[in-house]
Amino acid sequence: MTVDGTAPATSAGLPASRAGSPIRIRDVDIRFGEFVAVRGASLDIAAGELVCLLGPSGCGKSTLLNAVAGFVRPAAGEVTCGGEAVTGPDVSRGVVFQSAEALFPWLTVRQNVAFGPQMRGVPKARRDAVVDRYLAMVGLAHSAERFPEQLSGGMRQRAQLARVLANDPSVVLMDEPFGALDAQTRLVMQVELDRIWRETGATIVFVTHDIGEAILLGDRIVTMTAGPSAAIKKDYRCDLPRPRDLTDPACAALFRELREDIGAEVARTLRAQGLDDGHDGRPGADRPERTEER
Ligand SMILES: Nc1ncnc2c1ncn2[C@@H]1O[C@H](COP(=O)(O)OP(=O)(O)O)[C@@H](O)[C@H]1O
Ligand SMILES: [Mg+2]
Repeated sequence: MTVDGTAPATSAGLPASRAGSPIRIRDVDIRFGEFVAVRGASLDIAAGELVCLLGPSGCGKSTLLNAVAGFVRPAAGEVTCGGEAVTGPDVSRGVVFQSAEALFPWLTVRQNVAFGPQMRGVPKARRDAVVDRYLAMVGLAHSAERFPEQLSGGMRQRAQLARVLANDPSVVLMDEPFGALDAQTRLVMQVELDRIWRETGATIVFVTHDIGEAILLGDRIVTMTAGPSAAIKKDYRCDLPRPRDLTDPACAALFRELREDIGAEVARTLRAQGLDDGHDGRPGADRPERTEER
């Protein structure tokens, strides 16, 4: 986005993605039958922000993200995007999943990326330009004619991202998108996402259980309590300069703070299961005793 908030024209003469939309999550409860997965979640995300939703596995991150995507309807409360109530899925809220099975295996990368614009009736010439633009943006121009099975894990996630971006979303929802990638590819993808986020101006909600990943990417890192009845726990502002280096002292300090925060939730879950978080050298053993926050 430019300083005045308008989308800059690109060299290809195409408008850049529409500017990001703000997201408002207000007093949201999400139930699966009798089970209360999320209770009383409230969160405001500004237009164009990159917010990482961080919490232990199984706490309710995907569930909350799915409510923003419109895949699940809250039992109580409301989610709005750009001021409009979310009542179902919409291409303006693109979702990138952890599994690249979301790609159509019978279509080439180019056809996968073109699918959304084609469904929306975008004329071929413009569609081709859009597809070329996003394939180049994610670094897949040379693999446009390959099929998903011919791609590495990292390339498949790039293809997924290009497919979402081709729909010109104002919000991109990412659910542990790099979770299945090897550590090196993951690092490359994190740097790439940071760049792509700047180029598109979209609002991004990025779900992860990886503290380091959240620090590398987030403007804000929002932690969740362990479920059931998961809630938003704490909102960390992260304005450290980019690109971030986890060995930098400020990043390392934030890492420790987040590890305490998430560690407390993991310990709570283990205790609820009749287990203990260990003081014998297992993860968590080096943490000082804490008083319970609730
Ligand atoms: N469709 C569903 N039906 C029943 N329970 C579900 C469903 N989806 C998620 N859950 C439960 O909701 C809780 C949160 O799940 P999820 O949001 O997937 O966690 P996370 O993404 O943080 O790992 C878990 O206890 C999970 O078993
Ligand atoms: Mg999940």
